[in-house]
Amino acid sequence: MRTVKFGVIGLGLMGREFGSAAARWCHLTEIGCRPEIVAVCDTNEGLFDWFTGNFPSVRLATTDYREVLADGDVEAVYCAVPHNLHESFYTAVIEAGKHLLGEKPFGIDKKANDSIVQCIAAHPDVFVRCSSEFPFFPPMQRLGQMIEDRAFGQVIEVNSGFLHSSDLDPDKPINWKRMIPYNGEYGCLGDLGMHPCHVPFRAGWFPRSVRAVLSNIIKERPDADGKLVPCETWDNATLLCDALDPNTDEPFPLVIKTQRIAPGETDTWYFEVKGTRGCGRWSSSNPRRLETLQYTGQTQAWQQIDMGWQPAFKGITGGIFEFGFPDAIQQMWAAFLYELTEGKPKSRFAACVTPEETALSHRLFTAALISHANGTNEPV
Ligand SMILES: NC(=O)c1ccc[n+]([C@@H]2O[C@H](COP(=O)([O-])OP(=O)(O)OC[C@H]3O[C@@H](n4cnc5c(N)ncnc54)[C@H](O)[C@@H]3O)[C@@H](O)[C@H]2O)c1
Repeated sequence: MRTVKFGVIGLGLMGREFGSAAARWCHLTEIGCRPEIVAVCDTNEGLFDWFTGNFPSVRLATTDYREVLADGDVEAVYCAVPHNLHESFYTAVIEAGKHLLGEKPFGIDKKANDSIVQCIAAHPDVFVRCSSEFPFFPPMQRLGQMIEDRAFGQVIEVNSGFLHSSDLDPDKPINWKRMIPYNGEYGCLGDLGMHPCHVPFRAGWFPRSVRAVLSNIIKERPDADGKLVPCETWDNATLLCDALDPNTDEPFPLVIKTQRIAPGETDTWYFEVKGTRGCGRWSSSNPRRLETLQYTGQTQAWQQIDMGWQPAFKGITGGIFEFGFPDAIQQMWAAFLYELTEGKPKSRFAACVTPEETALSHRLFTAALISHANGTNEPV
């Protein structure tokens, strides 16, 4: 078993999800590598105890990320910090020669992303990927296989989105994800957008142009002291993209939605493809249910398949049991480590977002901002 020693920078929500996935790595039975967390970093020292208490392997806990990068034992880094820090932190990690799984949006804006992508190009020995766990749910893996098998025929339409509802509450206090200096001008697109782009981009469905409608619905929120302050980030975004089906060279509408104010939705990822020979759809609001329609010239009927624990990377859980968010996170980590150690992904859809795919997402989101501001259709 090859062990990859990790430093974790940013010990908040996502840093701890990685910790948990690493702690139960024995869950996976057919993978020849494992992560070991040896160094952790956050400016909030109160977050150290959870790591040092649960991971005897952690030797270094520091408030200065440069100490993690100077540690010769650290081979790879997971960086889960606010968006305004992505450019400086990711480029420093890469320049230190450490492999990197960085969080989305992989730069607060296109300029920051360009600089990260250029840094990666200058360091070809460093393996770099961006986080997105959505495709690792078993029904999404099955849909990915159907895309590979060209089971849908000519693509008619694709809908992909990520919906939240907690921001419907105007009393929800503001946090960094609702502030432009930390989250960026993209608003909900930067925070949520990579997820619904991952599978369409991996399928080769690249947007050629976009017409975007963005909304800032709740314009003020209480700060930590209860005082109302401006909340200027976009809450919701709908992107109508003109995409090209690479198998037929025919255009089709690709509709990407990211919404923080979608009443009734709780962390709902959805994906739907409609084609001339078949259709498929999945939503995390019913995570085991895969729906497909095969068109053979006869009756057009949707069938529902309840998929159990049938992920890309096998483990101890029986195939009839349920799959959940922490499983998707662990599968994503397995995909990162597999590709790092084997030199290629396990399959096209059991793989993390590439730097090139992040660059495409930044072209799309930047064009979306211009489209909304001018009321125009913009090339991507
Ligand atoms: N893949 C996903 O599903 C998913 C989900 C949520 C967030 N994210 C992404 O993860 C990243 C972090 O988001 P989060 O929800 O974990 O945020 P968070 O606020 O919970 O955690 C961020 C951590 O970074 C720390 N930090 C801030 N400045 C720092 C510095 N200079 N040095 C070291 N640490 C510093 C903060 O103290 C905090 O603990 C973002 O890029 C976000 O978009 C991804």
